[in-house]
Amino acid sequence: MEPMTNEKPILKVLRDKQISHGKVPWWMMRQAGRYLPEYREIRAQAGGFLDLVYNPEQACEVTLQPLRRYGMDAAILFSDILVIPHALGQEVGFVQGEGPKLGVLDISKLNYARYHQTLAPVYETVSRIKAGMAEEGFDQTALIGFCGAPWTVACYMIEGGGSKSFEKARYMAYQEEESFYELMDLLVEASTQYLLEQIKAGAEVIQIFDSWAGLLDEDGFRKFVIRPTRQIIQTLKTEYPDIPVIGFSRGAGSMYLPYVQETGVDGVSIDPSVSTSWAARVLQPYCVVQGNLDPVRLLAGGDSLVLCVEKILSDLREGSFIFNLGHGVIKETNPETITFLKSLLS
Ligand code: CP3
Repeated sequence: MEPMTNEKPILKVLRDKQISHGKVPWWMMRQAGRYLPEYREIRAQAGGFLDLVYNPEQACEVTLQPLRRYGMDAAILFSDILVIPHALGQEVGFVQGEGPKLGVLDISKLNYARYHQTLAPVYETVSRIKAGMAEEGFDQTALIGFCGAPWTVACYMIEGGGSKSFEKARYMAYQEEESFYELMDLLVEASTQYLLEQIKAGAEVIQIFDSWAGLLDEDGFRKFVIRPTRQIIQTLKTEYPDIPVIGFSRGAGSMYLPYVQETGVDGVSIDPSVSTSWAARVLQPYCVVQGNLDPVRLLAGGDSLVLCVEKILSDLREGSFIFNLGHGVIKETNPETITFLKSLLS
């Protein structure tokens, strides 16, 4: 096949494993959010967080906001991983300052009756972002669609909200394996359908967020992180072999390698605990590596930021690499520090 010369930098890395003109492509997890005053303004107009997520005009606007300031190489759809349980009929709310709160889980009551109807505004947001990016001249920027991985979404569904250790979810995974597999299968199906619709609407890359992957032991990781992720990717690849998938299995530690080898991801997003020289040696031969600046370094700024960015770049830029944070932007981050970060990358 003819090489596509003007392919977007992120797609070029993910498809051809090549960095264009030696420039490392970058974006940031949670790049749309409360650290930006223009986000807070729309957020205040929207009412609840889910009202913002299900409002295509406003969700599109907040997706584009960080691009206008910083011109990242990717936009990420503004939505949330918890829209899946919400669309399947579990109660989901976001309490200011407290994070998500979910109603008691009854697996037998989850259903598809209003699934795509609930999620339709998100698909519309995807096509609006695509149009908005074209209109505003972001023709080198790729649009990332996403979902939460079944394990991480199940953590919130079972626990009913955030937690440091998600012991209820782990207990169910280990103790009631049968019904846990049932929940995993349901979430694999729901997530796959959700992602296929995002791709149809214009998403060019998919990221699967498994923020709590690191809480499982090896057996649990194989069954509830690797297996469901592989199942989702298999179906996506059957229908859309050219859409790259990035997996973020936060805290996977020594399981990053089997995750990369066995799920079929094109890229892996690594958390700040991962040694970048190790990732270059062990992971980069298999897939694109994305990461892994500690978001607190970005909050801190100054020399501590500069040294860490330089180390990440020197270890990873010789291979296929996308610069990112190791987790989401912290809301107290000074927007000007991100302009500074950008200057360090060029
Ligand atoms: O810019 C982007 O990255 C796109 C949008 C995005 C959001 N959440 C918006 C959001 C993405 C990709 C997510 C993913 C997400 N959501 C994850 C996986 C990534 C990670 O951070 O580990 C998880 C675990 C969630 C669940 C979730 N949503 C929590 C725990 C919270 C509350 C914590 C918080 O920061 O308030 C949310 C709310 C949320 N999702 C906000 C945003 C911008 C803040 C809510 C607000 O504006 O009031």
